[in-house]
Order: sequence, then structure tokens, then C-alpha cells
Amino acid sequence: MPVISLSSAKGGVGKTTLTTALGAAWALRGEAVHVIDADPRGHASRHLGAFGLDHLTVETATKATIVRQISAARTTADVVLVDLPGAGEDVLTFAVSRSNLVILPTGPSAMDITDATRTWEAVAAASEALDRHIQAVFMLTRVKHFRTSVASHARAQLEGAGFPVLRSELIERVAFQEMMFHNKPLAQIGGADGAAANVAAILAEIEDILASMAKAAA
Ligand SMILES: Nc1ncnc2c1ncn2[C@@H]1O[C@H](COP(=O)(O)OP(=O)(O)OP(=O)(O)O)[C@@H](O)[C@H]1O
Ligand SMILES: [Mg+2]
Repeated sequence: MPVISLSSAKGGVGKTTLTTALGAAWALRGEAVHVIDADPRGHASRHLGAFGLDHLTVETATKATIVRQISAARTTADVVLVDLPGAGEDVLTFAVSRSNLVILPTGPSAMDITDATRTWEAVAAASEALDRHIQAVFMLTRVKHFRTSVASHARAQLEGAGFPVLRSELIERVAFQEMMFHNKPLAQIGGADGAAANVAAILAEIEDILASMAKAAA
């Protein structure tokens, strides 16, 4: 079933936070979620493993094994999420070769966007090498709750250059950090309603994209 990779050449933009929050939210809705953690530091697998959720499985992967692992996981899971490391184009190429959708999280700064467009180019190069269209979309992360002009500038810069950008943004909230401290999904953390609603909106938008892709392929 759908394989979604999260990738950015830039570190610290929220790939692992997003993978963890989306994986838990999907699993709590009863979907069989499989998370493949391709970052040797293993944060996503360590934390999500400690969440102890039914319907959610995690494993680590290297560039030597990831293609095989994704191919196996997609036959059993309802959704496969791949958390990629902040650097390492080899593993990115292998992961995207088996992905239906690549999400490119980027912080709302000019420098972050420059780095993110390099990741886009790496995905485009992989797509060309594989002779296969790989759908990719940018996503603004680390966006302040009180709306500032920088998120709008960042969106305008990306959209102005013709890149697709998710409507939903990952908002900066302490609840996302608490999720990792407590090893609990947002739904089980007091005062995390805003973060949980943020994740639900992101999830709904991703599901819409997957549904339109499935319709287009039918
Ligand atoms: N939306 C958010 N709200 C609050 N803190 C966040 C948010 N997103 C990320 N962070 C924090 O920012 C730091 C980096 O986030 P994270 O590890 O998810 O990024 P990453 O892109 O996976 O980084 P790396 O490239 O190093 O793997 C972490 O300390 C995390 O708790
Ligand atoms: Mg990470």
C-alpha cells in the first residue's frame, strides 16, 4: 500500500517528528502502519517502538536493505512511512525508488528553502535515473503558531518557483517535544489538542493526495 518517504538534506526540519506523529495518528485510527527508520540514530524507531501501539510496527533499515524492506512492508501494511536521515543521497535514492509520495519538509527560511530545493533535485534525479515519475511535495514545518510573515514568504517563494506545497503546515508546539519525552501519541497527552488537530489536518491532506493519485492511476 502507499509508501511515503520524508526527506530533507537539511537536518532538524521535523522529519522524525512528523513521521512519529503521523504514524501514531494513523495507527490509532486502526490502519496498519509500518515505519521504516533509515536514520542510523534510530530516533523514530526507538520512540515509536516505545509508544506500544497496536497496528504500528517499526524497523530500522540501511541503504543495502531498504528496497527489500519497503517492498515487503507494502504488501502487508496499509501505509508505510520512511524516515530518512538529514544527509545521505544514496539511501534517499533507494527509498524514493519504492515510494509513492515523497514529502520534503522545510523550515520557513530562505536558507532552508535553498537546501530543500536541493533535495527536490535529488528526487528529480532519482526519478530520471529510474525512468519513473515520483510524486514529491514540499511541506512547511517549524511554523510559528502566531502567524508571521516568514511562513507566507516561504510559501510564496516555493509556489512562485512552481513547486507543489502542502496547504497544511507543521506548527511549532511543545506538545511535539512532549510526545517524544513521554513516548505517547498526542491523543494521550493533556493539552495537546492543537498539535493533534494539526496532525489530523496534515493526515487528511495526504490522504486526499493519495486518493487522487489512485484515481489518476485507475
Ligand atoms: N513542530 C514542532 N514543534 C516543536 N518542536 C519541533 C517541531 N518539529 C521538530 N521539533 C524539534 O526540532 C528538533 C528537530 O526535529 P526532528 O528531529 O523531527 O527533525 P529531523 O528533520 O528529523 O532532523 P534530522 O535531520 O536530524 O533527522 C527536535 O528537537 C524536535 O523535537
Ligand atoms: Mg530525523
